[in-house]
Amino acid sequence: MKHLILPEEAPFSPEQREWLNGYLSALLSPYEGADKVPGIPVTIAWGSQTGTSETLAKKFSKLAAKSGVEPTVVDLAKLDHASLSQLKHLIIITSTYGDGEAPDNAQAFYDFLHSEGAPSMEHLNYSVLSLGDSSYPDFCKCGIDFDTRLKTLGAKALIPRLDMDVDFDDDYANWTSDILALFGSVAADDESEEEEGFTKKSPYTAPILKLYNLNAEASERETTHVEISLEGSGISYEAGDALGVYPINDAELVDTLITQLEFNSEADLDGKTLRHALTENYEIRNITLPLVKAWAEKADSDELKILTEAEDRGPLNNYLWGREIIDLVKEYPIDFESAQNFIQMLKPLAARLYSIASSPKAHNDEVHLTVGVVKYESNGVARKGVCSTYFSERTELANPRVFVHENKAFRPPVDSEAPMIMVGPGTGIAPFRAFLEEREATEAKGENWLFFGNPYEKVDFLYKEQLEELSENGYLHKLTLAFSRDQAEKIYVQNRMIEEGKTLFQWLENNGHFYVCGDASRMAKDVDVALHQIIEEHGGMSAEDAAAYVNEMKNSKRYCRDVY
Ligand SMILES: Cc1cc2nc3c(=O)[nH]c(=O)nc-3n(C[C@H](O)[C@H](O)[C@H](O)COP(=O)(O)OP(=O)(O)OC[C@H]3O[C@@H](n4cnc5c(N)ncnc54)[C@H](O)[C@@H]3O)c2cc1C
Ligand SMILES: NC(=O)c1ccc[n+]([C@@H]2O[C@H](COP(=O)([O-])OP(=O)(O)OC[C@H]3O[C@@H](n4cnc5c(N)ncnc54)[C@H](OP(=O)(O)O)[C@@H]3O)[C@@H](O)[C@H]2O)c1
Ligand SMILES: Cc1cc2nc3c(=O)[nH]c(=O)nc-3n(C[C@H](O)[C@H](O)[C@H](O)COP(=O)(O)O)c2cc1C
Repeated sequence: MKHLILPEEAPFSPEQREWLNGYLSALLSPYEGADKVPGIPVTIAWGSQTGTSETLAKKFSKLAAKSGVEPTVVDLAKLDHASLSQLKHLIIITSTYGDGEAPDNAQAFYDFLHSEGAPSMEHLNYSVLSLGDSSYPDFCKCGIDFDTRLKTLGAKALIPRLDMDVDFDDDYANWTSDILALFGSVAADDESEEEEGFTKKSPYTAPILKLYNLNAEASERETTHVEISLEGSGISYEAGDALGVYPINDAELVDTLITQLEFNSEADLDGKTLRHALTENYEIRNITLPLVKAWAEKADSDELKILTEAEDRGPLNNYLWGREIIDLVKEYPIDFESAQNFIQMLKPLAARLYSIASSPKAHNDEVHLTVGVVKYESNGVARKGVCSTYFSERTELANPRVFVHENKAFRPPVDSEAPMIMVGPGTGIAPFRAFLEEREATEAKGENWLFFGNPYEKVDFLYKEQLEELSENGYLHKLTLAFSRDQAEKIYVQNRMIEEGKTLFQWLENNGHFYVCGDASRMAKDVDVALHQIIEEHGGMSAEDAAAYVNEMKNSKRYCRDVY
């Protein structure tokens, strides 16, 4: 019989190898002497907000199926809690959202697992693959919490949890071979899984057709409407998807860094000048936790070490808020000796995602974005977000390199007659412009209701004319506005939702689909609270019943969020 012993190339310590070989023998002993070992059933459950973990789970499942495993892929929202007692092998692939929270589809499972009544998991062998972004203070927290809790409940980790940062290709490849080695298989060739066309790894350089500010000149805000041509690229997308954009750094910031570090801007770095590499290839603005930890060591700064080593992240977060790499350079100088040594500490310049603001059915071969320009002052210095100010200031330097980031969990209702309720203040309006254009282009019969808010009606009413036209054409049945600063007391979209609670509940009861887009940290949370309140009040439900109602909306894909 094949596969009874871990392959030699499997990268485990002698102790792990001994345990795993024992485990494999026990697992496969019923098939001793058989010609063919049946695939080992493995459940792969994903938690995902914008589709990355979902895609990895499906990709891994295909690979696993070719490698002698019998995989079942399941949305964590649909993982039957009662069936957990029957599962032997569970792989969880999850991202982290908000401030260290579970993605929406994983929240109910998260709550169940962390509840007092969570069952013993002693029968379960599991592994957690967690996706995150080390620029967030709670890096990969959801995956970490699942791992910790499963262990506490008695489950056995097959291989240690892997926390993956944004650039995860190598980590993911190593993890797949480790986990498949564990089941006595060698990962089959993954080449067939390579995506075709333009992708995150090979983006499309796209011409810009139009750029203009959607706010009036007198506004304190700037929101760039971007129209990009996809003609001839073969790229397609759907309303609800996002566009990934690789930006170009600000030349002034590049110069300041080079001058401050006393480097030669023309120094050669693998065939590129230092200036070129810093302009196009590296994140030279935002500080990540690994960077500040490495900086503390290299600068041998006790002050930074105390901050980075403290269990309480509060003081470190306070220090980092509003600071950039240039501040570390100035406040904790390091003698790098060569530009290469500095570059090695930096992360590759990451693509930024933007919710697509156009329907491909209304704008053939084009993709539109609504980009809020990030500019602020901190510690007496003017700061500029990399990608948003690339669109507002630097597109003449080079066209953007783009790719489509599919978001299957955020789509207009499949049932074209189902009502849509969309809550999208600020740049959160972007995907709803796309949804409304889609409904108009397809002559969908369902009613549409948009909640929009921004500071001042006069200068910040994004897409006003187009929304009015959609109303006249019968595709925007209700437009509810919350201009926060037009009166003494702030009025936000959730205040308007409460005012309209009775009607809103009727729409929900009538198969209404509820969508939220925009700020994750405050708005989306407050809107969620308002939604529960409306269901309680107008549905005559207890808090628990309202929560169950909302969960059911999530499970049936009638409560979808695209928040950032
Ligand atoms: C799925 C998804 C969809 C998105 N859709 C849109 C969209 O449609 N429109 C849109 O505009 N954005 C959208 N975003 C956000 C977008 O991806 C970028 O994060 C945003 O444009 C900022 O990028 P940047 O490169 O300009 O700023 P960066 O250089 O990345 O800087 C942003 C960082 O600056 C810091 N910062 C920002 N403001 C302040 C402040 N006032 N004080 C101190 N520090 C501050 C924060 O650390 C913040 O993380 C979306 C994000 C996601 C994940
Ligand atoms: N991750 C990133 O790098 C990044 C980059 C850009 C934007 N963002 C996030 O995306 C959000 C969207 O930015 P935006 O400029 O389009 O709009 P925004 O800042 O969300 O503002 C839009 C409207 O929402 C109001 N608002 C403020 N707090 C609210 C709350 N708790 N509930 C409901 N409404 C609230 C604002 O009012 P007032 O301003 O009058 O209070 C304003 O009228 C930003 O807030 C930011 O958090 C993130
Ligand atoms: C609004 C927002 C909040 C996030 N919060 C965290 C976080 O707290 N910790 C973390 O490690 N990653 C965080 N991330 C990064 C995501 O986990 C990461 O991009 C992941 O690859 C997304 O996977 P998904 O598409 O499967 O949801 C956040 C991303 C966004 C857009």
